[in-house]
Amino acid sequence: MVLMRAAGLMIMSMAILLGSTFGAAIGIVNVGQIRKLAAKNNVSGVLVFGDSSVDPGNNNHLATTFKGNFPPYGKDFFRGQPTGRFSNGRLPTDFVAEALGYSEVVPAFLDPNVKPKDLLRAVSFASAASGYDDLTANLTNVLPVWKQLEYLKHYIMRMRRLEGERGTKEMIKNAIFVISMGTNDFLQNYFLEPKRQKQFTVQQYVDYLVTCMIRDVKEMHRIGATRLVVVGVPPLGCMPLVKTVMDSTVCVDKYNMPAHSLNTKIKNSLATLAEELKLKSAFGDVYGAIVDAVNNPKKYGFTETSKGCCGTGTYEYGDTCKGQITCKDHSKYVFWDAVHPTEKMYQIIAANILNTVQSQILG
Ligand SMILES: *[C@@H]1O[C@H](CO)[C@@H](O)[C@H](O)[C@H]1NC(C)=O
Ligand SMILES: *[C@@H]1O[C@H](CO)[C@@H](O)[C@H](O)[C@H]1NC(C)=O
Repeated sequence: MVLMRAAGLMIMSMAILLGSTFGAAIGIVNVGQIRKLAAKNNVSGVLVFGDSSVDPGNNNHLATTFKGNFPPYGKDFFRGQPTGRFSNGRLPTDFVAEALGYSEVVPAFLDPNVKPKDLLRAVSFASAASGYDDLTANLTNVLPVWKQLEYLKHYIMRMRRLEGERGTKEMIKNAIFVISMGTNDFLQNYFLEPKRQKQFTVQQYVDYLVTCMIRDVKEMHRIGATRLVVVGVPPLGCMPLVKTVMDSTVCVDKYNMPAHSLNTKIKNSLATLAEELKLKSAFGDVYGAIVDAVNNPKKYGFTETSKGCCGTGTYEYGDTCKGQITCKDHSKYVFWDAVHPTEKMYQIIAANILNTVQSQILG
């Protein structure tokens, strides 16, 4: 929706964001203006927490099967390199970091090849298959949020050696924290495992996830965060995998409903919490962006909204996507695998996030 309001205006600056891979007018955002505002607000960088939507490869270094560090992942990444990102190219947070003027990519904290100084402006602690509920990460042996926050503390210690005590404090204060997760709490956890279903109705579980988010935000605030973006949950029922499993040709309401509800509650709680903690906060809409692309594909130059590009497109993601042949023209696809969006869809999402960051945090 934000996208539509701005549509058609800033084609020139958009090119900076989109790079040369996609010429079409999709994510509309005024990068020049955002960079100026970021500089004026002394934005120091981005610190990222969450799941596969923002994990640039932390899971490569964990004993988990939830990895995306093999072809065809990364097909359109720099040098066609698979990195662990669950898409053909960059993730929303990579585009956000680039637009703010820092780095073309957000490095993974656990990557042994990145040096501490490479992490000064952008770093991701995110871990694919993680979620708000600690049990979600536990089921797949990936990093729960508390562990991601523990790594943040390690990061801060390393930064102190580079920037000193005061410099590091300023940096954390001026950084934009990003949280992006929630999908796996439903797909890997609630709808798959009996434990939470026995404890909670789906609506109670949504409320439980919100309390987890509030706990995480309070901890970030305690550590020094003053600026925060929470990225919402995608329409789970529109994912090719869910459509396949539920044998549906249209988005599955049973899965979309709790995602929509979680988004509404996160958005409202975030606003209240931000006021209480004196945080500048923004909610990044993914749900609306994907639903709009699925309902109005032509607007974005998409023709395939129900299948992923990897393999048959109906169930492959992660391991089952490994080495699969991909579709002919993935610029026409909303989804890269049966769960994760294509880079092109992620650019649209990044534009949504940037527009809300501009108005709510930098405005
Ligand atoms: C940015 O940093 C300058 C210099 O330290 C300071 O005077 C100014 O108040 C800061 N602006 C914001 C919005 O934090
Ligand atoms: C998952 O939970 C079990 C039981 O509480 C615990 O023993 C185990 O260490 C946890 N695993 C991870 C990866 O946190």
